[in-house]
Amino acid sequence: MENKIVVSGIRSTGNLHLGNYFGAMLNYIKMQDQFPCYFFVADYHSLTTHPDPAQLKPNVFKVLAENIACGLDPNKVTLYVQSDIPEIPELYLMLNMMAYKGELEKTASFKDKARTQPDNVNAGLLTYPTLMSADILIHKAHYVPVGKDQEQHLEMARTFAQRFNHRYGDMFPEPHPFNFGNELIKIPSLDGNGKMSKSENENATLYLCDSDDAIRKKVMKAKTDQGPTEMNSEMPIDIQHVFALLKLVSAEDTYQKFVANYAACTIRYGDLKKQLGEDMVQFIAPIREKTKEIQQDTNYLHRIMKEGKEKARASASRTLDEARKKMGINFYA
Ligand code: TRP
Repeated sequence: MENKIVVSGIRSTGNLHLGNYFGAMLNYIKMQDQFPCYFFVADYHSLTTHPDPAQLKPNVFKVLAENIACGLDPNKVTLYVQSDIPEIPELYLMLNMMAYKGELEKTASFKDKARTQPDNVNAGLLTYPTLMSADILIHKAHYVPVGKDQEQHLEMARTFAQRFNHRYGDMFPEPHPFNFGNELIKIPSLDGNGKMSKSENENATLYLCDSDDAIRKKVMKAKTDQGPTEMNSEMPIDIQHVFALLKLVSAEDTYQKFVANYAACTIRYGDLKKQLGEDMVQFIAPIREKTKEIQQDTNYLHRIMKEGKEKARASASRTLDEARKKMGINFYA
């Protein structure tokens, strides 16, 4: 086990889909065997958009269950809920003294949200990067497995860490993005428009909670064309996408058979999609069922959350004590 610390936050809104699985999730699962990992459900972050309180709790349980069902092992990683760790908002307050209005306003995600939700440009939204920095720095993380969209936030975490170190004395390592390369696999959406995503086209995205029928239906509607007219022709992008999905979930010889059919112009997309639909069901159904099982086992989830909370707080309170001491707010020591 390397002694580099890993931290990552999991959003508690939206359903996990195949893109999340082959991107972030597989990375986490690989990392859990190689590094001490802290993974948490970012429920405080979700408050920026005022989610329905009746929805928040089941969403947190669901995302925990989904992650465990996909292979995240609570015995290997510290898995917790952000709001269980009071040390995080305390560090957030300290870091906010080092975060300037101008730079926060310039953050791409803030500008985006300010434009799309002009009626709710709250201070929590503005200081989202400071909260994320606190999440990371509270465990003195070195590596943060995140996608491209989070790189600016991570850069800000480095800036705040440097400012703190400079003003009060060295204590935070600089956190850097990390992944094993899985994120280079972009899972194409089924309608030929970009990649699968949480919010865009629900019918073009395969969710880990989709029913067998929903999976089959969505796959059957995947965008294809009239088929090749010349032997060994190159695949148009939409066809490449369908083949990419087949490669992910089907047996190698199945995949090769369809590749050969394509080259010989004997391909029948109906057959291909039928096969893909079945293989997709075989892939997703066990994850979906396992998730349901875990989700219903509140005792188990409570136990996991409490154990995670204890481990995370042990690490967090060490960091916070050190920060307080460096700042001179340790009156009873
Ligand atoms: N902002 C991240 C996202 O939207 C989630 C997140 C919150 C996070 N805190 C974090 C990721 C700390 C990595 C580290 O996906």
